[in-house]
Amino acid sequence: MTKSRILTGITTTGTPHLGNYVGAIRPAIRSVSDDSQAFFFLADLHALIKCQDPEKIQQSTKEIAATWLALGLDTDKAVFYRQSDVPEISELNWVLSCMTAKGLMNRAHAYKAAVDQNVADGLDADSAVTMGLFSYPVLMAADILMFNASDVPVGKDQIQHVEMARDIAGRFNHHFGEVFVQPQARVDDNVAVLQGLDGRKMSKSYNNTIPLFLPEKKLRKHINKIKTNLLEPGEPKDPDGSTVFQLWQAFATDEQCEQMRQAFADGIAWGEAKKQLADLINEELAEPREKYEQLMANSSDIEAVLQQGAEKARALSRPLLAQVKAAVGIRPL
Ligand code: TRP
Repeated sequence: MTKSRILTGITTTGTPHLGNYVGAIRPAIRSVSDDSQAFFFLADLHALIKCQDPEKIQQSTKEIAATWLALGLDTDKAVFYRQSDVPEISELNWVLSCMTAKGLMNRAHAYKAAVDQNVADGLDADSAVTMGLFSYPVLMAADILMFNASDVPVGKDQIQHVEMARDIAGRFNHHFGEVFVQPQARVDDNVAVLQGLDGRKMSKSYNNTIPLFLPEKKLRKHINKIKTNLLEPGEPKDPDGSTVFQLWQAFATDEQCEQMRQAFADGIAWGEAKKQLADLINEELAEPREKYEQLMANSSDIEAVLQQGAEKARALSRPLLAQVKAAVGIRPL
C-alpha cells in the first residue's frame, strides 16, 4: 500500500503566534509518523501576493522556519522546504494556469472579497487586485499536485482552494492521462481556533495576537492584557466563553482542565488565573524558545536545513515535472 502524503504550506508573512501554534503547527509536527509522508513548506511565493516589503518577507521566512525547527519538527521524516527553492513548482504553475478556467478563479473567495470591498468603497472593481491574487489558487494547486499529496490539512478558509486543486487535477488527467493524485482537504475539528486578546479569533489582521516566542516577561505581560469581565475575586466565573480558560484548555491536560473549571466556579481572581495560565504556557514553550533564539542567531543553520529539504523535494518534483511536460507535448524532438 502506498503511504498517504500529507502536505501543507505556511505563507511567510508575519510572526507565528499562539493561534498558529495550537491550530496548525503543533498538530502538524505531532502528525509526523512512519505511517504517512509529510511535506511542510514555507510559501514565500504566496507571501508576495500580500506583502511587498522584502525585509518582512525574509524575516518572516526566517522566523517561521526557526519556529518549526525549534518545536522539534523531525526533518528526517518530514520534507521541510521553501517553495521558491523548488523552481519546478513555478513551472508547473504555468502549465496548470493553461488548464484552469478563468471562471473558476472568478469564484475564489479571496479574490471575490477584494472585489466586493472595492465595490463597497466605490472604487473600480479590480482596484489593487493583482494577477497574483487572482491566480493564487493555481499556485496552490501546483504546490499540492507537484508532490501528489493525498491529504492537505488546512483551515476552513482554504477548503475551497484545495477543491480547486482537485478540479484542476481532474481536468488535466482527463485531457492528458492520469498524472496527478486528487487531493483531499483535511480540516481537524478537534484543534481549537484560539481567541485573541480581545476575544475575537486570534489573527494578525485583528492585531490581537500573542506571539509564540515572546521572552517570558513579555509573554506574561501579553497574557495580563487578555480581556475579561469585571467579576471580583470570590465571584464564580463562567469558564465557557472565557479567553483565559480557552487558552488554558489548549495547553492543559484533562485533569488540569477540570481543576481550572473548579477554580472558576470557586471564584478564582482573574489575576491569579492569568498567572497560572502564563506558568502553564511558559512550561511548554521555555525549551523551544531557547532553541528558537539559538536558531535565529545562526540563520545559516536554518538555511542549511532548508537546502537539504529542497534537495529531497526536488528529487520528486523534477521527475514529476518531466512527466507533465512530456504529457502536454513539451518533449525533446
Ligand atoms: N494559502 C495557504 C494559506 O494561506 C498557504 C498555502 C500555500 C498552502 N500553498 C499551500 C496550504 C498548499 C496548503 C497547501 O494558509
